[in-house]
Amino acid sequence: MARGIIKNWWNHSVKIAAIWSICAVIFFGLFQMALRNSSSNSSRPTDSTGSAIANAEQRSILYTKLAKELDEKGAVFLKQGQTSQSLSLSDLFTLKDGTVTPVLKAADPPVRANVLHLSTEFSVPISEAVKNILLPYFKKAIWFQNSSMYHFSMFHASHHIAPVPATETEIEAEVHAVESVSKSICPMHIVLDRIILTPTGVLLGCWQVVSGADPVTIRAKLKDALPHAPQKQLYNEAMLHTSFARLLGPPKKLSEEENKMSDLQIFHDLVKRLNNKIAGLKATVSELWYVEEYDLLALALNGKMKIRKFNFGCSEA
Ligand SMILES: *[C@@H]1O[C@H](CO)[C@@H](O)[C@H](O)[C@H]1NC(C)=O
Repeated sequence: MARGIIKNWWNHSVKIAAIWSICAVIFFGLFQMALRNSSSNSSRPTDSTGSAIANAEQRSILYTKLAKELDEKGAVFLKQGQTSQSLSLSDLFTLKDGTVTPVLKAADPPVRANVLHLSTEFSVPISEAVKNILLPYFKKAIWFQNSSMYHFSMFHASHHIAPVPATETEIEAEVHAVESVSKSICPMHIVLDRIILTPTGVLLGCWQVVSGADPVTIRAKLKDALPHAPQKQLYNEAMLHTSFARLLGPPKKLSEEENKMSDLQIFHDLVKRLNNKIAGLKATVSELWYVEEYDLLALALNGKMKIRKFNFGCSEA
């Protein structure tokens, strides 16, 4: 009798243990698959909603960090700073008789940049707002980005830090590869997230993607299409920015109240006014440009360049 009870109990325990073991194996297997999926998602961008949110978050974090730099590093450009491309601003402009003139320097070999173009439909109103707010404070000590040339820098086939010389034939092959990429891109609907003044005096428009292609995807496609491009690129893969203007000197103080403020406080005030005026502005991007810049920063400084323009080939769903 007692032996029968023990035997039953033993059988029961073996069954439970077997069921638990099977559950554990299945769980462990699923867990491993989930791990593998999540790590492949983070290294290989896709167009899924999950990575779109991750890219937007990466941009937000980046913009918040950039916005803090003016306070952390101060207005370095007042002491002759460097641009994001490590060129000193004093090398870029001369102030002759109160007129700002860019100092163009030949790029040898020419820089080959791939940029997204912002149409004048959107850039002209931005440019006007920027001029209205900033001109009274800087008079001639400011350089405005040409509104026909508003652009989002994506990917360089060659830049001045890591030059990749190319023959004419190789350049034509790059142009062809970039055109193919443009055909696979869908229009990007974007919104001006915030305006930032960098310690080097560059007024940046930082954008978020509402829908359509993401910069992370576009840069990945360009990287695949341009295998000889420099490994080290100039910008964060998620960043979507246009430069609006470059400040070249301290602000004029126009009122009693401003006379009591530091230059830095006035910069913050002006950036706040710009944000109130144009942040939230929506735009659509649908052109990819392959630009040979024969002068350094030709796109920014109206230098010599050759532009090939490609419309995105994917139409909206
Ligand atoms: C702006 O760019 C356009 C197109 O390249 C050019 O025609 C125009 O002269 C430029 N404006 C200035 C002020 O340089």
